[in-house]
Amino acid sequence: MTEHSSGYRTPARLFHWIVALAVLLMIPAGLTMTREGLDRGLQDVLFIFHKNTGTLLIPVILARIVYRRLHPPPPLPASVPGWQQRLAAASHLALYALLVIMPLSGFVRVRAGGFPIELLDAMGAGPWLPKSEALAGAAQGLHFLAAMLLIALLALHVSAALHHALLRRDGVWQRMWPPTGG
Ligand code: HEM
Ligand code: HEM
Repeated sequence: MTEHSSGYRTPARLFHWIVALAVLLMIPAGLTMTREGLDRGLQDVLFIFHKNTGTLLIPVILARIVYRRLHPPPPLPASVPGWQQRLAAASHLALYALLVIMPLSGFVRVRAGGFPIELLDAMGAGPWLPKSEALAGAAQGLHFLAAMLLIALLALHVSAALHHALLRRDGVWQRMWPPTGG
């Protein structure tokens, strides 16, 4: 038994919970700011929060994926049936894919549409993309589709986590919680 044999390491846990918190704020912000008839002031605040936090997440998510490649987690307990282990692996892979697709498609939608990302603009960064309605429209469609997939997958993910934490009590929850240790 090594020190890390039972759960995720501290950096993996911190990455998970920081990104989870950000994404769980980004989703309602995104859904609210696109609603018809929303107060203009609130809409501006939500857009600024959404675009800038989402952009900051890009390097964090890429660093998380590199860390994950270098430090794969220990296997799930043998009490978890094979099909659930495979479903967990597939859903985690899909979550990582969506964590890349979401902020990149959002970034392309905004920059190809010619809109600001205040943080980058304040640093004097260029738009990095040519203005293109076609590209902005395609990225917008992808952002929406990926957002719906992400929400569905997160419902499954959080249900599974709570199932392990409250009903099965098989130690799977403790692999990721608390955010440090392990
Ligand atoms: C309240 C919300 C959440 C709870 C309770 C939760 C719980 C967990 C738990 C317990 C694990 C460990 C599973 C295992 O041992 O195999 C895990 C892994 C994971 N979670 Fe979450 N999670 C939440 C939100 C999120 C969000 C918002 C995302 C991403 C958008 C996410 C992405 C992931 C990924 C990618 C893994 C796999 C980690 C890896 O193997 O590298 N989670 N989550
Ligand atoms: C993990 C990161 C992100 C998540 C989870 C996320 C989630 C969402 C959700 C749920 C919506 C509402 C559904 C929709 O209309 O598409 C949305 C809309 C939007 N997001 Fe994001 N987003 C992320 C990153 C970004 C980034 C980095 C940007 C830009 C820099 C961005 C720009 C936008 C814009 C402009 C909209 C409105 C789309 C429209 O015009 O209809 N998002 N986002």
